[in-house]
Amino acid sequence: MKKAKIGIVGVGIQGEQQLKAFKTIEHAEVLAIADLNEKRAREIGEKHGVPRIYTDFQDLAKDPDVEAVSICTPDHLHTEPALTALENNKHLLIEKPLATNVADAQKIVDEANKRGLKLMVNFSNRWSPPFRLAKDTIEAGGIGRIVNAYARLSDTIYVPTEMIKWSDKTNVLWFLGSHVFDLLRWLFKDEAKRVFGVSRSIVLDARGIKTQDFYQAVVEFQNGITAVMENSWILPKGEPFIVDFKMEIFGEKGAVRIDRTHHGSVRVVNEHRMTFPDVYVLPSENISVFLRAGLECFVDCLIHDSTPPVTGEDGLIVTKVISAIIKSSEIGMPVEIS
Ligand SMILES: NC(=O)c1ccc[n+]([C@@H]2O[C@H](COP(=O)([O-])OP(=O)(O)OC[C@H]3O[C@@H](n4cnc5c(N)ncnc54)[C@H](O)[C@@H]3O)[C@@H](O)[C@H]2O)c1
Repeated sequence: MKKAKIGIVGVGIQGEQQLKAFKTIEHAEVLAIADLNEKRAREIGEKHGVPRIYTDFQDLAKDPDVEAVSICTPDHLHTEPALTALENNKHLLIEKPLATNVADAQKIVDEANKRGLKLMVNFSNRWSPPFRLAKDTIEAGGIGRIVNAYARLSDTIYVPTEMIKWSDKTNVLWFLGSHVFDLLRWLFKDEAKRVFGVSRSIVLDARGIKTQDFYQAVVEFQNGITAVMENSWILPKGEPFIVDFKMEIFGEKGAVRIDRTHHGSVRVVNEHRMTFPDVYVLPSENISVFLRAGLECFVDCLIHDSTPPVTGEDGLIVTKVISAIIKSSEIGMPVEIS
């Protein structure tokens, strides 16, 4: 069977994770990478044996042998490389969030539709084992009709202050909340009707990083379900994990409670502390099993010419709702979703 030839734009943390994951997928080949940072591009290219290394995404987009491009640039820098790839007739995988404003998200979706190209937004948590189990349980009627939910996905302050250099160009709602809202609408098979958001900028602002510390939001869905979402970027560095991910879904007949941070089955203790290693990674390579599963699905869609299960329209809806929560937090009033 032929291999799908992939190009990755942006080989920072996530771009390298994708590269490692694609390398384990039989029908994929990462033919090219592009990164503005030439040293990083060369380092990653040589380390992982990528044949073609570019610094300009335009050159990667024009490479006639590249069939599909994956965009792994920072949140606020997805649109230009995405449109360039589409204009060069490449299928597109794009990291979440699709874009950080509705107009850009719409442009990307329109361009892909106009050209009949595949567009998948990498909401990788849809392949994460606990959320898949929740989806199967809900669809089998295991908790009856859903009534309400609570979801928290937060990071320690290490993420906006040290891990990513562009935290003031995005915010925690784009970076983490986009994952959560996508999961909720996928699990509920429903769309948001009205949102109310609150945020504060105290801790990060005092450190000279102009971005929100957290968002708390109430989301009302069209069929009456309500969900509370909480996304913080200021958890203390002393937490045992960088990420704190919880979700509780309550139905008429039961509940699903997820603690994605750890499932407690593996504990490693040294002289100083106890840790719960992440068990959702392939141990030798430290590749997330659900990131890999999502990428494999994209590759299958390329090989078999089928429609990706997470589309540009999904990314556009998430962008609209996240924008509405931000607006609500700014005006201090609920915002209706058009
Ligand atoms: N799906 C997930 O679970 C998941 C996890 C982590 C990050 N992400 C997303 O992945 C994206 C990248 O995040 P990251 O943590 O890897 O960021 P990063 O800062 O580590 O890497 C971004 C890379 O893009 C490069 N870059 C910036 N502008 C460029 C351009 N015009 N052309 C070429 N390269 C360019 C930078 O030099 C850098 O190497 C973000 O949108 C983030 O939200 C998704």
